[in-house]
Amino acid sequence: MLTQIIAHRGSKGTCPENTLPAFAAALADGADGIETDVHLSKDGQLIIIHDEKVDRTTDGKGRIIDLTLRDLKRLDAGVKFAPVYAGTRIPTLDEVVQLLIKANFTGIFNLELKTNKIHYDGIEAMVADYFNHHQVPFKLVYSSFYPKSIERLHALQPEAEFDSLFETKFKTARRLHAEHIIIGYHPDIRWVRRHWLLLPKVQLRPWTVNTERDMRFCYRHQFAGLITDYPGLAHRLRLKMQGG
Ligand code: G3P
Ligand code: CA
Repeated sequence: MLTQIIAHRGSKGTCPENTLPAFAAALADGADGIETDVHLSKDGQLIIIHDEKVDRTTDGKGRIIDLTLRDLKRLDAGVKFAPVYAGTRIPTLDEVVQLLIKANFTGIFNLELKTNKIHYDGIEAMVADYFNHHQVPFKLVYSSFYPKSIERLHALQPEAEFDSLFETKFKTARRLHAEHIIIGYHPDIRWVRRHWLLLPKVQLRPWTVNTERDMRFCYRHQFAGLITDYPGLAHRLRLKMQGG
């Protein structure tokens, strides 16, 4: 079994994160999966961005929850990464899904509900409703640092795959696994390197695996997947180590 390569926020290492060019590059780089983050705007739109605020990745300021889709679409989400990406916009969930459908993407779509800092009211129901009304060719995998989001979404869409995200503690992940809500763990690679012998035999996809050393570690131990900013590099290395 090959270790799946999941592109973190798209090809974040080579493109502005969580933008359509980053997702297109991930597919071109041979990623088996895409990882991305969703928030809710002031007017209830599902927005693809990492932070709760637009400040770091765009030329604007403010929280997603305080801005409408119209406000967000005025912002430049590319120019801070490199001038060549000027004019790149923050995408909605639907725009990302449509890009993947157009590309006939049949891999893993790992959607992280960014609800650990702001518990966006009703976001789980909106996401479930979106995917219950859109047939997609790819495999949906949900994750969140906020266990309540996982439990809520699992109740609404039990056929999807759920995985626990964690940085250091995995008590909650263990409970969700015992309750058959989650299948796998998405832990911090630094944590995995210290504790992996303690982990039960579960599907493991660590993040963020960016160095050759960490990639080799994941391949050598045949983890289910790895989440990386550099899917192109991960792909070249996997060819050498796992032959595919
Ligand atoms: O899914 C793993 C990873 O995305 C979690 O961390 O902060 O990049 O969303 P973060
Ligand atoms: Ca994420």
